[in-house]
Parts: sequence; C-alpha cells; structure tokens
Amino acid sequence: MREIKNVVVVGAGMMGNAIAQVFASDPGLNVILKTRALKEDRYKPIEENLDIMIARGAATEQEKKEILARIRFVTDEAEAYTEADFVIECYPEVMEMKQELFASIENYCRDDCILATNTSVMSVTEISEKCRRRERVVGTHFWNPGHLIPLVEVVKSDFTSEEVMQATMELLTRVGKKPIYCKKDVPGFVANRLQHALWREAFYMVENGIADPATVDAACKYGPGLRWPVMGPMENSDLVGIELSYNIHKYILKHLADNHEPSPLLEEMLKRGDLGFKTGKGWQEWTPEQMKASADGLKEYLIDYAAKHKA
Ligand SMILES: NC(=O)c1ccc[n+]([C@@H]2O[C@H](COP(=O)([O-])OP(=O)(O)OC[C@H]3O[C@@H](n4cnc5c(N)ncnc54)[C@H](O)[C@@H]3O)[C@@H](O)[C@H]2O)c1
Repeated sequence: MREIKNVVVVGAGMMGNAIAQVFASDPGLNVILKTRALKEDRYKPIEENLDIMIARGAATEQEKKEILARIRFVTDEAEAYTEADFVIECYPEVMEMKQELFASIENYCRDDCILATNTSVMSVTEISEKCRRRERVVGTHFWNPGHLIPLVEVVKSDFTSEEVMQATMELLTRVGKKPIYCKKDVPGFVANRLQHALWREAFYMVENGIADPATVDAACKYGPGLRWPVMGPMENSDLVGIELSYNIHKYILKHLADNHEPSPLLEEMLKRGDLGFKTGKGWQEWTPEQMKASADGLKEYLIDYAAKHKA
C-alpha cells in the first residue's frame, strides 16, 4: 500500500484553507499550500477557523500551534510538486483552468502522485482530459465548511484506478473525514443529487401554494431532518419495510415534482433582484440580525458536532 506523507493543496481560497487545515491535523502529514503570492496575513483564515473551534471546545491551543506549524505556503511549482504524494486542487470552478493546472503539475510531480479535484459539479473525467496519466486523477468533493463537514465524495472518473480510489478513501479516513465512494462520475455526484431532489420539491410546493417557505423549512428542521444525521433513506426504508416503501411510492411518485428546468419563481426573483442574503430578500425577507443568526447558528451547530465527535 502506498504511503502518503506530502500533501499539496492548490489555491488558498475558502476551501483551500479549510482543506489544508484538515490534512495538517494529522501529525504524519506535511502540508504545502500552493499560492500565487506570499501574503503577510496568509495564516489568518486558518487561525480564525481554529480560534472559533477552540472557543467551543472543538480544538485546543496546542492543536492550533501544531496545525499551523505543519502548513507551509509555497509559490514555486517545482518546490510545491516535486515531492508530492497527493495534490488537491481548490482552484476556481473553471474547466480549462483545472485541466491546464493538472497537465502542468504532471511536469513536476512523480508518476505515482495522486491528483485530486475539489470540483463541486464538474466532470472529473473531463478535468483529467489533458493529463498523461488519467488513472491518477480522482474527485474529492469536500463540503463547505471543509474543516467542519465530515463528508467527502470520492469520485471515480472513467479512468481512475481502483488503487487510487482506495488510497484516497484511506487518506481521508485517516484525517477524520467520512469519505464516500462514488462509483460513477455523474453530475451532482451523490449528495448534491439528493439535496437538489429535495430542493426541487421544496420550490415546487411554494410555487403551487402547498406551503409557504418557512413552513417547508419547518417541515425539514422539526421532522425528517432530525432523522437524517443518524438514519439515511436506505436504512429508513428497511426500517419501515420494503412493502410499505413500495406501496407509498406506487401511490405518491406521480404527484411529485419532476421538472427539468429551474422553478419559474427563481427566475422571477432573479429579475426582481431578490438574491437572498446578498440583498436581504429571497424566498423571505431577512434583517441583518436574522441573517447573522442564521449563518452563525449553522456554524455553531457544526462546530458542536465536531467537538462531540472529536477522536
Ligand atoms: N465554496 C464552496 O462552498 C465549495 C464547496 C465545495 C467545493 N468547492 C469547489 O472548490 C474550488 C474552490 O472554491 P473556493 O470557494 O475555495 O473558491 P475561492 O475563490 O475562495 O478560491 C480559489 C482560489 O484560487 C486562487 N486562484 C485563482 N486563480 C489562480 C491562478 N491562476 N493560480 C493560482 N491560484 C489561483 C484564488 O486566489 C483563490 O485563492 C472550486 O472548484 C469550487 O467549486 C467550493
């Protein structure tokens, strides 16, 4: 089995910083953050992440010191990639940029170095198109905030080798993530397909006057949403029984949303300039205090989850 020691994260944006922090939590890994320039305050985003975690008991001052010491910012490509065992790109979501980046990294890295992409939605197969060794390219879709959400979708392209899939799953498990094996490189991978099946139905119900937006959210938060952290739909279906699952679907599926275009309500809101938190109005109106409470509430919930599940 291959040994992974040197991890390179490319792009010190929101995801890159969080992901570097995750890998640097393992004492056996050296982490390079490949950036375009060495900014004076380059450690600040990771320090801020860790400070909030420390305040709620999800990390300690000692861990913060060690994590920061394991991360080195590098601008030179040869210095970044020559010794790399695992590179993960957190570049802008632009196909050509990701393709060119991987092709260029191959000029420096060893033949057995794994190249992982953090793309949210793009085809991993297409991202590997300009690579000499397409079997080493794998999708690793972290969810935002990358240092707090355990899930990482590990995506097998049409070319990814089974060995690369296994090594990637092991590495992510080792740094405390919950990687899932996505057998096919399909739009939305696994988790976004589930999420947007739900959002489609949510928007459809508002569009058709079945429920207002706050009611839809309440139905999730105080109902089935409480089950989801401990029981997914497949397990739940077994629990209630296959016969019931069959009978319910036989009756209800024909009544559910199956539109292939975005809800017309989204289009109307776009036209009106109601862009959600960006403008204080979307599906509902938001005061600055409500928006802050909403964003902070999610962050605190996730940090408390991390503190509770800390090894
Ligand atoms: N933001 C999310 O919620 C989220 C979640 C999962 C996956 N992703 C994916 O992660 C990737 C990064 O997203 P992000 O939100 O961190 O974006 P971001 O804009 O915060 O970060 C992108 C980084 O790339 C750097 N960059 C841009 N051009 C560059 C160049 N030519 N050379 C070197 N560096 C360059 C930027 O300076 C920036 O630091 C995208 O593929 C995105 O789809 C994002």
